[in-house]
Amino acid sequence: MLPLSQQELINIANEFGTPLYVYHAEHITAQYKRLTDAFTETDTKFFYACKALTNIQVLKHIKNIGCSVDCSSINEVRLALLAGFEPTNILYTSNGIDFSEIEKAQSLGVHINIDSLSNLEKFGKKFGHSYPVGIRLRPNIMGGGNLKVSTGHDKSKFGIPVDQLDKILALVSTHNLYIQNLHIHTGSDIKDVDTFIKGIEVLFDIIPSFHELDSIDLGGGFKVPYKEGDSETDIALLAKKVKEAFDDHPNPNGRHLQVWFEPGKFLVSAAGYLITSVNVIKRNLGNNFCRYQQWLQSPDTPHVLRSLP
Ligand SMILES: Cc1ncc(COP(=O)(O)O)c(C=O)c1O
Repeated sequence: MLPLSQQELINIANEFGTPLYVYHAEHITAQYKRLTDAFTETDTKFFYACKALTNIQVLKHIKNIGCSVDCSSINEVRLALLAGFEPTNILYTSNGIDFSEIEKAQSLGVHINIDSLSNLEKFGKKFGHSYPVGIRLRPNIMGGGNLKVSTGHDKSKFGIPVDQLDKILALVSTHNLYIQNLHIHTGSDIKDVDTFIKGIEVLFDIIPSFHELDSIDLGGGFKVPYKEGDSETDIALLAKKVKEAFDDHPNPNGRHLQVWFEPGKFLVSAAGYLITSVNVIKRNLGNNFCRYQQWLQSPDTPHVLRSLP
């Protein structure tokens, strides 16, 4: 982590007033560089899962450092376009939404991952082979720091269960769908890199059924430390294991596959500071009360993207 010093934060607070959100641009850049430096031997593309933080200045910064963006709602897609991302660098991974949102995403020209058989069917009927699309699969893998952030297991609502592959293939064939990407996301706070490798193995089993794939998408979920001494995902080890997995499993269709990731928290979670001021301190026997300014985000709360010299 690249921390801002207390004095730097006080200086910024003096300049802009409090309460104030400050985001450390260099930290975000450094985290992105950790990823790109680790994955030099695999053709990889990173889409920042912007649900982690949709501040427009942060989005612009992420675009400027060369990272792409993953959106989970159509308004996030609009925000990403507003921030200047090219549609080809925007991914829309939907969950349980009305088909009209997918139609909007299609009209904006972004990549789309569809996560239900019913929407895949509607997409096939309307667009056939004319628009490439991705499928979000549920790999039946337990991943993530706890059950609440685990999204790939066999009771999860996210994605089309891999065991329904025959139904997916029937739709692909009936509507001549152009399946460009297979996506999984097993959860957040994934420390064990083998969770990602298990996901790759699930995908390797079904890749041969898709003849027009350009990419596989392993989602996000890299674990970040929340406090001193906490562990995090070993990104270098993950990169090594991903490369080994691909070396062991050349695509039987002969097509080159790019690997996509959707890191959210990894890029931004340690980059934000909330600076507020103490209104009143009441000293008591036993316990003291310290009352801060309200810090609920309001339109009046300034946001500063600070790039320090
Ligand atoms: C589809 C998808 N991709 C990426 C992410 C980002 O996860 P994280 O912030 O843990 O990296 C999420 C988080 O919920 C997600 O649902």
